[in-house]
Amino acid sequence: MSAKSNARPPRLLVLGTGGTIAGSTASATGGSYAAGGLSLEVTLSDLAGLDLAAELIAKPVAQIGSQDMGWEVWDALHKEVRMAQDDPEIAGIIVTHGTDTAEETAYLLDLTLAAGKPIVLVGAMRPAGAVGADGMRNFANAVHVASHPDANGRGPLLVMGDTVFAAKDVRKAATSNIDAFKGYPRGPIARVTPSSLDWFGGATRIGEAARYAWPEALPRVAILTAGAGMDAEPVRALLNIGCKGIVLAGLGQGNAPGSVLNALNQAVENGVPVVRSSRVDEGLVDRNVEVDDNAYGFVAARALGPAKARILLMVLIANGVTDLNEIQSAFDRG
Ligand code: SIN
Repeated sequence: MSAKSNARPPRLLVLGTGGTIAGSTASATGGSYAAGGLSLEVTLSDLAGLDLAAELIAKPVAQIGSQDMGWEVWDALHKEVRMAQDDPEIAGIIVTHGTDTAEETAYLLDLTLAAGKPIVLVGAMRPAGAVGADGMRNFANAVHVASHPDANGRGPLLVMGDTVFAAKDVRKAATSNIDAFKGYPRGPIARVTPSSLDWFGGATRIGEAARYAWPEALPRVAILTAGAGMDAEPVRALLNIGCKGIVLAGLGQGNAPGSVLNALNQAVENGVPVVRSSRVDEGLVDRNVEVDDNAYGFVAARALGPAKARILLMVLIANGVTDLNEIQSAFDRG
């Protein structure tokens, strides 16, 4: 006979933003569905039978597909998370989120929040009602992680497919598989099921303050993807629409045709920082390997892919960091 504990279960705040975890489908086997179609209340009602060892406080922030994620929802989300971080009654925070831009939201929160109590983003690759739907499994895992004391001091985490990733590493690497996420340069930092949680190392950021202030707004920063045969016109177009920074999703180690590199150098000369990342799935983009960054005035993205490089560059510019050496140091830290 097992002894029942009288301890109060951890109280978790669940902030809903939409995505496939809040998606509904008319057919269990059909391919089409609408992400963010269900309210947080309906999404969480499916949890009733799961006997989760936590008290959940639901608060909808948005009900969108994460392709529409942007400043307004980020601003509202950031405020809610900050309040919950300061609330001693809340043990951890779960954010339900579409998987398409979850890595961007996770990293934005990582850069602008203290690494205190657990912040866990969770989504689904299959909508509720689809055969093999993964949302409730992922959610049960998120509850397990967010209520676990060893999740403190790790920054925001993403829980998907029985796996836990740190915000800095995680990226979506498949369009529709259940195990769609990968980590780089670190892989997963834990494995989780509703009944087990195995961390691969200790928390290293306990007590760490926010790296950057939450800004009043984020500047327009664009990602320019390089391709064979392209010319420099897209760079000029980006400058004409007032981009304050450009992230090159370059070839291989962050390369591009000579005419494009020259146009990007012109952008730098005009005060628009340029960060070279790679359109390749994995690997570092280091300084001065194939491209002479010292001569062109470029910043190398190091371990950050284009999507996260854009987030970091927006946050830096919004915080008044425009010196290229300082920007490079921020990217070296990742
Ligand atoms: C979205 O990102 O909102 C759609 C895709 C998903 O949630 O998996």
